[in-house]
Amino acid sequence: MLKNDLLIRAAKGQHVERTPVWVMRQAGRVLPEYRATRARAGSFIKLVKTPELACEVTLQPVDILGVDAAIIFSDILVIPEALGLPYTMDEGRGPHFEKTIRSETDLNSLSVDRVVDHLNYVTDAIRLTKEELNDRVPLIGFAGAPWTIFCYMVEGKGSKEFSLARRMLKEQPEMAHRLLSVITDATIVYLQAQIEAGANLVQVFDSWAGVLSRELYQTFCIPYLKKITESVNTVPVTLFSKGAWFSIEDLASLPCDTIGLDWQVHPTLAREWAPNKTLQGNLDPAVLYGSYDEIRHSTQEMLKAFGAQRHIANLGHGVYPDMDPGKLKCFIETVQEYQYK
Ligand code: CP3
Repeated sequence: MLKNDLLIRAAKGQHVERTPVWVMRQAGRVLPEYRATRARAGSFIKLVKTPELACEVTLQPVDILGVDAAIIFSDILVIPEALGLPYTMDEGRGPHFEKTIRSETDLNSLSVDRVVDHLNYVTDAIRLTKEELNDRVPLIGFAGAPWTIFCYMVEGKGSKEFSLARRMLKEQPEMAHRLLSVITDATIVYLQAQIEAGANLVQVFDSWAGVLSRELYQTFCIPYLKKITESVNTVPVTLFSKGAWFSIEDLASLPCDTIGLDWQVHPTLAREWAPNKTLQGNLDPAVLYGSYDEIRHSTQEMLKAFGAQRHIANLGHGVYPDMDPGKLKCFIETVQEYQYK
């Protein structure tokens, strides 16, 4: 039994005494303790693949920041790797894939069969973290959404527009659907394995949703998110489609529990579009560059706008690497101390 199950109750729409809070990218990025463990590991990928170290950095924000949930330390890019596209994480330049998917031949070289075997290091890290957490707070598992993973597999690296990925939607729509299906199948077995290993809730990150139109989102994303949410139904599921305010009504029609919001959508509008869901978010991360008083004020305004129930407090996207951990802690404590009138 979880000692602090606020996140799970809020996700399920059950009554909570106060709003739970965690922060996207809370492990890594801002904590000096993370950098120390990463230096010991030698590289980011080594850190992800060593369960003891992944467990250590997963626990750091729970111990240091006092968040109401842990999120397993890994990356969304482990799925392309498990399918057959290894990646490197170049310091300051982000991910890079040597091989990409541009043709039928590339696509046929991918294999879903051994995805879960390849990702044993993640499920081992989850089991170890569950033991170490000792039910203090829930553990969140995660994966990238099919569209976001597709972006990296086609483009081979990060991009502002992902124009090669979008070009494939126009020029080779059937191949695009085939690739999205392969990613979806891999994602479902991967999320199920995370849940079996102990994840109490799972989040699907669609970080590049915002480069699509609503029409393309309906054609190339919603059907795959539908399949994922229909197949992964033993723990609450959060869908976070960044930059895609236009998709909130469509996401609300899927059997997910929570919809994650970036800071560009007002809570009141999101409530109108998704009256049946818990909402997560959505403080502008840049607020953390302000003074402590400004952080407290903006956080309280956000809490008021969402109301006391069916809300999980978070930033509207991951915390930025140059942010002061003290200010992040101020955000977390403001949520935990807030009294709704
Ligand atoms: O939230 C957490 O604290 C858990 C760990 C986590 C990481 N990546 C660790 C990481 C999670 C949930 C992710 C998800 C992820 N990875 C997303 C979706 C969320 C989002 O931000 O939109 C995306 C798009 C990626 C892909 C990725 N991984 C990029 C573009 C980069 C490079 C730039 C950066 O720092 O984000 C990464 C590397 C990465 N993943 C780091 C960490 C801590 C930094 C690596 C380092 O230590 O140098």
